[in-house]
Amino acid sequence: MDKLRVGVIGVGGHGRNRHLVPYRRLEDVELVAVADVNQDTARKVGEEFGVAHYVDYKEMLDKEKPDLVSVVTPTGLHARIASDALKAGADVLVDKPAGANLREVMELFNLSREVRKRVMVGYWSRFSPALSYVLSLARDGALGQVYHVSASIVRRRGIPGLPTFIDKSLNGGRGALLDIGCYVIDNALAPLGFPPPRSVSGAIYSKIGVRREEVPLNWGSWDPSKFDLEDYAVALVKFDRFTMSLEVGWAANVSHQGEVTLVRILGDEGGVEMRGTEAITDVTFHGVQAGHVVDVKPHLKKADLPFEMVREFVSSVREGRDPSPNLRESLILHAVIDGIYNSAEEGKEVTLTSLSG
Ligand SMILES: NC(=O)c1ccc[n+]([C@@H]2O[C@H](COP(=O)([O-])OP(=O)(O)OC[C@H]3O[C@@H](n4cnc5c(N)ncnc54)[C@H](O)[C@@H]3O)[C@@H](O)[C@H]2O)c1
Repeated sequence: MDKLRVGVIGVGGHGRNRHLVPYRRLEDVELVAVADVNQDTARKVGEEFGVAHYVDYKEMLDKEKPDLVSVVTPTGLHARIASDALKAGADVLVDKPAGANLREVMELFNLSREVRKRVMVGYWSRFSPALSYVLSLARDGALGQVYHVSASIVRRRGIPGLPTFIDKSLNGGRGALLDIGCYVIDNALAPLGFPPPRSVSGAIYSKIGVRREEVPLNWGSWDPSKFDLEDYAVALVKFDRFTMSLEVGWAANVSHQGEVTLVRILGDEGGVEMRGTEAITDVTFHGVQAGHVVDVKPHLKKADLPFEMVREFVSSVREGRDPSPNLRESLILHAVIDGIYNSAEEGKEVTLTSLSG
């Protein structure tokens, strides 16, 4: 079996640790090159992994002609670079979120169909054993009819004051909702099969990032007088068969330390409570058995989530099937996110009609 040749574009923290390191463990792929606009990073990481390094990713695509490409640059560049990689003939693993907005993700989806190449979206959190347990419960009907989901991901103090996340020319022009809200929406909607949302009522706030005294309490550094991203967002999203309430915060005056995700899925037969950070690490099923109210807490398997993500990408290409997480799911996810921004801007509930199912 020929080895699949891999190139990774954007080899900062996440590109190195959660893409290159897992690829290196797979026997049927060969890492051939890395590309990063930061010459020092490109050289250092290229040398560490013993592969060619480029500053210009287009030159890398042209010269190396990789079969598989990971895109792990800042979010605002994901869709453009992923499109270039598709056009160069590669199957693509683009990190989360797939693009800055629904339009970008739709264009990427259409292009992938046109060139008949796969795009997987890098929600490594999807490979959580706790989430797999919930997916199985939902598939087996243990939840009954789901009528409400409440989903929250809130950091007490975690504004990432680093260019990748805070510079609007890099981050897709948005704040906490796009950056970490995408995880909790993915975690919440995966068990429910990503049905199309019908309407959204949302609000966004910039309350902590604008305060000078907050800079040393968060991550990195930024100019609070120029902070114009949301650090907190809330919404109520309506689907045909259930509602979803959402809370997302880079920073908020809450009790817990660090970042906490809490997702509750309420069904008429059973419910689940999931906890974690970006990935769900803990889950309990609540229901009724033999006339008693019960709590079921599984002993979860261990898993290396980024490794499972990369392995799924490579397997999907080998087996000629759609990967998961994929762009069809991301269309729904970005429709929700864009809907919240639009509703916040218009100050009223917005109806979503562009995705029918
Ligand atoms: N899944 C996760 O848990 C997780 C965690 C962190 C980041 N991420 C995502 O991964 C992406 C990268 O985040 P990070 O933490 O690694 O950031 P980072 O700043 O450490 O790395 C980004 C790298 O991209 C490079 N880059 C920028 N523009 C480029 C271009 N045009 N061509 C090639 N390289 C370019 C930068 O020089 C940098 O080395 C972001 O989209 C982020 O949302 C995901």
